[in-house]
Amino acid sequence: MSIYKDLLKSSLEIIHSENSVVDKMQSVCDLLTSELDYYDWSGFYMSDVKKRVLYLGPYSGETTDHTIIPYGKGICGQAAETEKTFLIDDVMAEGNYISCNINVKSEIVVPILKNGIVVGQIDIDSNKASAFSTDDQYMLEKICTELALYIE
Ligand code: SME
Repeated sequence: MSIYKDLLKSSLEIIHSENSVVDKMQSVCDLLTSELDYYDWSGFYMSDVKKRVLYLGPYSGETTDHTIIPYGKGICGQAAETEKTFLIDDVMAEGNYISCNINVKSEIVVPILKNGIVVGQIDIDSNKASAFSTDDQYMLEKICTELALYIE
C-alpha cells in the first residue's frame, strides 16, 4: 500500500472514531506532520460563514500569527472564497500570499465543503519547493469530505 493510502486509512479511522471533532482534527494534523517529512505545518482553519472570516483551529507545527484570515486574503482566503483546492509550488511567486514562516516554499489548501458551503479547510505548508502532488491532493480532499460529516 502506498504511504498515501496508508495515511488515508489511518486518518479515516481517526475521523470515524468516537472522539470530538476538534480532537479528530488535532490527531489528523499530528499524524500527517509526523509521517510525511515534507509536511512542516499542518492545520485547520474554520469558517465563520456570515463574517466571511477563517479562524485558526487545531494545528501541528510552529505557532502562527495568522489566527484570523478574511475570505479572499492569502491562499487560505482564496480557497475559502472560490471553494477550490489551491496547490502552490512556489509561494513566493504568489501575489496574494500570507507568509507565516520564512522557511515555507510550497503550500496546499483544501476546502471542507458541507452542503455546498465552505465550513473550513486544511492547510499544509512545506519547507520544500513543489512538495505537493495529486497524491496529497486526493488524500487531503478525501479527509476533508469525511470530516465534513462531523462539522456542525
Ligand atoms: N500561507 C497562508 C496563511 C496561513 S499559514 O500558512 C499557517 C495563506 O497564504 O493564506
